[in-house]
Amino acid sequence: MIKIAPSVLAADFLRLGESVKAVEHAGADRIHLDVMDGVFVPNISFGQPVVKALRPVTRLPLEVHLMIVQPERYVADFAQAGADTIIVHQETSPHLDRTLRFIREQGRRAGVALNPATPLATLEHVIELLDLLLIMTVNPGFGGQRFIEATLAKLEQSRRLLDVRNPACDLEVDGGIDGHTAPRVVAAGARVLVAGTAVFGHPQGAAVGMQVLKRSLVG
Ligand code: DX5
Ligand code: ZN
Repeated sequence: MIKIAPSVLAADFLRLGESVKAVEHAGADRIHLDVMDGVFVPNISFGQPVVKALRPVTRLPLEVHLMIVQPERYVADFAQAGADTIIVHQETSPHLDRTLRFIREQGRRAGVALNPATPLATLEHVIELLDLLLIMTVNPGFGGQRFIEATLAKLEQSRRLLDVRNPACDLEVDGGIDGHTAPRVVAAGARVLVAGTAVFGHPQGAAVGMQVLKRSLVG
């Protein structure tokens, strides 16, 4: 079963709680929260207070995607705020083994994200420590970008590696996922799809956006 994780980056921030409830009712599997620091990525989004505020609003798991430098400094804070999964970037984590173990020690699921230019081979020695592998299908920093085709090969490679060494690990994609790209990433091995614009930016509302995505995966 393919899971959908709407990214609230594309939601109306004045109505964040309602937006999250709307996608929960529309069948979302988890909520994806994009934390940006204006250093690792050009954009600034939000931090722990928003995660904490959303925690009681939904029963869905919250996954926090940390696009920040030195993410290990904030793992405990986000765990405390109510994150179920904490995703750090390989590119900001020289001590990735230690950081992943630390996330698990906090009782949270540990995830790693790879930018489009970062090889899968950089995770060779930590693959068993992962609960989630996030293959970025755009360069992180903004919603609404175009899907990068070259990431499909890395996705296929990731599927093969996880099937052998860590089959329970989620394989997730993030960036430019819509009704056209969703079936293609699933065919390449993705099992969790993050979608911002396609859900919250849908002209007929987030529930219709969810439906369009789900329908694209049938048949
Ligand atoms: C990009 C973020 C994404 C973003 C996806 O840096 O990590 O989660 O919200 O947005 P869409 O689905 O619009 O590409
Ligand atoms: Zn994200």
